[in-house]
Amino acid sequence: MKLLIVNGSPRIESSTEILARQFEDGFTSIFPDTEVVNVRLNDLSIIPCQACGIDPTPLPCVYKDDLHPTLQHLMQADMVLIASPVYFDSVSAQTKLFIDRSNCFRPPRFRNNAVGFDDHGILRGKGAYILVGGAREKFDAAERVIGGFFIWAGIEKIGRVIYGHDDWQLGGVTLNSETLRQSHDLGVSSASSLS
Ligand SMILES: Cc1cc2nc3c(=O)[nH]c(=O)nc-3n(C[C@H](O)[C@H](O)[C@H](O)COP(=O)(O)O)c2cc1C
Repeated sequence: MKLLIVNGSPRIESSTEILARQFEDGFTSIFPDTEVVNVRLNDLSIIPCQACGIDPTPLPCVYKDDLHPTLQHLMQADMVLIASPVYFDSVSAQTKLFIDRSNCFRPPRFRNNAVGFDDHGILRGKGAYILVGGAREKFDAAERVIGGFFIWAGIEKIGRVIYGHDDWQLGGVTLNSETLRQSHDLGVSSASSLS
């Protein structure tokens, strides 16, 4: 099995990161030999999608920057976990850069001067997500962004964990055993969905 974890938080040991680790622990409890690829998007230098309109063959993208290996891992992953903080009601900018660069997982087809897209995304893996926000507890916009990305790319959604809180403590989720358990359980159920 191959598990790709895409972490969109800029903070080390953030609640987002801790919950992603819980998911990983749950997943690997079912498949101990999993190849786990952990990507902290904040460590990468990422070119935003340029809407280049160029034939992306070979997939996934004509731009070979720091994100390119992650997009290649995504093509091979059985399971992808997107873990993001909520910033201004949406996913973090780091997460959005990654999502936009996945546009060619529904490859464009060029005909004369027009471009159309296949009806279905080309990925065949499954996916889950974790969102961490503050006390506003408005997650619908971020959920639509990730949900839309899954549908576009052809990823089957297995589940999600949503954590809203009103403290400013780094990694504060460690005090919330229920949310830690939910993330671990999502890792277990995600792995089970593959067996
Ligand atoms: C730039 C910025 C924008 C934010 N916008 C929101 C928001 O719209 N809604 C919300 O619930 N929390 C918002 N927050 C709070 C974060 O989601 C919250 O601090 C969360 O714990 C971050 O995740 P982390 O602890 O894993 O880093 C924002 C924080 C920052 C830094």
